[in-house]
Amino acid sequence: MADETWSEVDHYLAGILIGHDSALTSVLESSAGMGLPPIEVSPTQGKLLMLLVKMLGAKRVLEIGTLGGYSTVWMARGLPKDGELISLESVQKHADIAHANAVRAGVIDRVTIQVGKALDSLAEFVASSAKPFDLVFPDADKSNNAKYLEWAMMLTHPGSVIVCDNVIWAGRVADETNEETAAVAARAFLSAVAAEDRLEATAIQTVGVKGWDGFVIARVK
Ligand code: SAH
Ligand code: DHB
Ligand code: MG
Repeated sequence: MADETWSEVDHYLAGILIGHDSALTSVLESSAGMGLPPIEVSPTQGKLLMLLVKMLGAKRVLEIGTLGGYSTVWMARGLPKDGELISLESVQKHADIAHANAVRAGVIDRVTIQVGKALDSLAEFVASSAKPFDLVFPDADKSNNAKYLEWAMMLTHPGSVIVCDNVIWAGRVADETNEETAAVAARAFLSAVAAEDRLEATAIQTVGVKGWDGFVIARVK
């Protein structure tokens, strides 16, 4: 099966380019031990997020959907000492686990996990004129992605980057007859991105331990 080969290659790549990382292993072990679903980004994807943070010289990162903090820890590692990552999470238990994981990983000085519905937190940020973010990573409830994009446009500046996870959903995005929530949401999100004149965007399919999926990568003009 293709998926097995994709996983083998992903393990090979992670072995050679990432190696054993006890902090990240402990994030995964604690998340699994606490019963969280294994839906975090893969190691190679997490490292991509960290590299994007570094390549952008990002100082402020906004994540939507924390889970156990796996992607949070990766991105926080890309920040400078005075950088800040705010991660929005609606489930208190997830936020608590992620907080403990960020402490163990040594990045809690740069990480704030805000508990609540992301749409409420985003509205608060705009209402309080929060400083703009350099990178926004929506990875929560897919059906709100088009709305998250609207808020992200108000909370970014020219040069900011929006990376959105799970926009391919095993190819179902391109099957107009597929009405799964995530597939419908991915189409709505891609249409919203395409209609937004202030963005230049692409989408990249990925295969690996998380199967077949992909990211939208968009830059604010
Ligand atoms: N980014 C994580 C995975 C996030 S999984 C990683 O790659 O490691 C999606 C998370 O979004 C879950 O923890 C879920 O509870 C949270 N979530 C779902 N709907 C939400 C909402 N409306 N507001 C905030 N968080 C939400
Ligand atoms: C799911 C959510 C994700 O963010 C992901 O990367 C993979 C799967 C899910 O809800 O099944
Ligand atoms: Mg995801």
